[in-house]
Amino acid sequence: MIANHATEPGSAVASRAPAAAGGFYNDKVVRQFTVATILWGIVGMAVGVLIAAQLYWPQIGEGIPWLSYGRLRPLHTNAVIFAFGGSALFATSLHVVQRTCHVRLISDRLAAFVFWGWQVVIVAAAITLPLGITQSKEYAELEWPIDLLITAVWVAYAVLFFGTIARRRVKHIYVANWFYGSFIIAVALLHIVNNIAMPAGLWKSYPVYSGAVDAMVQWWYGHNAVGFFLTAGFLGMMYYYIPKQVERPVYSYRLSIVHFWALIAVYMWAGPHHLQYTALPDWAQSLGMVFSLILLAPSWGGAINGIMTLSGVWYKLRTDPILKFLIVAVSFYMIATFEGPMMSIKTVNSLSHYTDWTVGHVHAGALGWVAMISIGSLYALLPRMLGLKSMYSIRAIDLHFWIHTVGVVFYIVSMWIAGVMQGLMWRATNPDGTLTYSFVEALNATYPYYLGRLAGGLLVLGGMGVMAWNTWKTYAMAREPAEQPVLMPHPEEARA
Ligand code: HEM
Ligand code: HEM
Repeated sequence: MIANHATEPGSAVASRAPAAAGGFYNDKVVRQFTVATILWGIVGMAVGVLIAAQLYWPQIGEGIPWLSYGRLRPLHTNAVIFAFGGSALFATSLHVVQRTCHVRLISDRLAAFVFWGWQVVIVAAAITLPLGITQSKEYAELEWPIDLLITAVWVAYAVLFFGTIARRRVKHIYVANWFYGSFIIAVALLHIVNNIAMPAGLWKSYPVYSGAVDAMVQWWYGHNAVGFFLTAGFLGMMYYYIPKQVERPVYSYRLSIVHFWALIAVYMWAGPHHLQYTALPDWAQSLGMVFSLILLAPSWGGAINGIMTLSGVWYKLRTDPILKFLIVAVSFYMIATFEGPMMSIKTVNSLSHYTDWTVGHVHAGALGWVAMISIGSLYALLPRMLGLKSMYSIRAIDLHFWIHTVGVVFYIVSMWIAGVMQGLMWRATNPDGTLTYSFVEALNATYPYYLGRLAGGLLVLGGMGVMAWNTWKTYAMAREPAEQPVLMPHPEEARA
């Protein structure tokens, strides 16, 4: 027997809408996280633009500690990954799990706790990082009290997500939920293991690991943060919103299952590619390289599955800017997951490491894949959440698509050229063995590309402004968002 939460006493829904057989979906938390995604996207990218400007004009913020590059850089990475990307993952996972399981989230209170708890984490990060309070572990900078809060919110999120799956009205668990589920479990594991530390005061702690072990644990975490925070959940978006938008089933459901298990089996072993030519044992470095090369297969297999979902309806790409966002995102995913395995090859890494090539790779993944799939998914879901057919302006979505795409291309092409050039200049030697170029010469040669990156970043940020305006107008059109009744599954699909 499935409890009908929407008609429980005290439920806001029960008091406003007539009873529906299966109750109503909890779309409030989805809308809240959608707005949070746009807001934090603008903040995080604005900080990205600021640090990109600082790399060109280092005098910006001179003498003001909290405006220094070293403090703003982690603010940028935390804001874009956890506040922007994280909110998009919460919004879409909580939308997808309800629609594919044909049931309301198990608890409105837990949903509210997840939303507000995560906002407190973000605000705490935005205060402590500029103050210089940090564990100095990349992507895990936040100090232990905030880590504990993250753990509490994450456990609540897991209970909410898996509890809803347990209460589903259909037999089958749709593949998008498998990707979201693996993201939730893996991030819990990564967060706890990498953050085990001994507190030495309220805002200071020391990790229990040391030396090469510390580096290994950190990059096991770092790489899997990429694999599970920046990839698995976003693949969940791909598997739900692309078929929805084209109104066709996913190209091969069988391939999606192979994709899932292959990705899960391989990702965890690739972390050492971040530590090539370091004190890490040589066999571990080679293991990381081999698993990274293998990773190309499931990554491309899954991406092709997403893109081929358009078979027979390719023409839709011409007119639907949301689909353009989704499909171009998957194309950037293919670029990043081809480039990554190549960069993991030791000889290639000896050129690319420490250069801006890595930064170009990161943003092909971050701005091309993560941001575009999130933006496309939110444009697809937001009007539905407000009881509307589409966003206020389709032309504005198209404009956003073009300025974002041009911006990303500016960004990553600048970094690719700068990176390869830096690598080649640093290693060039004269016949007598001395260096051909001094470090400053390489830096001087890089400057024009930093300006190119800044221009790209400004375009991307401008696109987010267009999205915010369109969202504002869409909300104004919607007035009071209508609660949507839970759709009852077909009897053949229903759980006994
Ligand atoms: C307007 C858009 C953006 C701009 C202008 C921008 C700019 C920058 C800059 C200047 C850096 C520092 C590079 C360095 O230290 O040499 C950086 C690092 C980084 N950014 Fe962004 N960024 C943007 C959007 C994003 C987004 C949306 C994400 C993720 C979803 C992201 C993820 C990262 C990461 C992970 C790093 C660290 C890279 C590394 O350590 O190699 N950025 N960004
Ligand atoms: C098959 C998939 C991938 C492989 C094998 C891979 C491999 C690599 C390699 C070899 C590096 C350079 C390590 C170094 O020299 O320091 C790297 C850096 C990075 N990659 Fe990937 N990559 C993949 C996909 C992605 C995707 C899809 C994203 C983003 C969504 C991403 C985000 C990053 C980030 C953030 C870093 C910089 C880490 C840091 O140093 O701070 N990667 N990746």
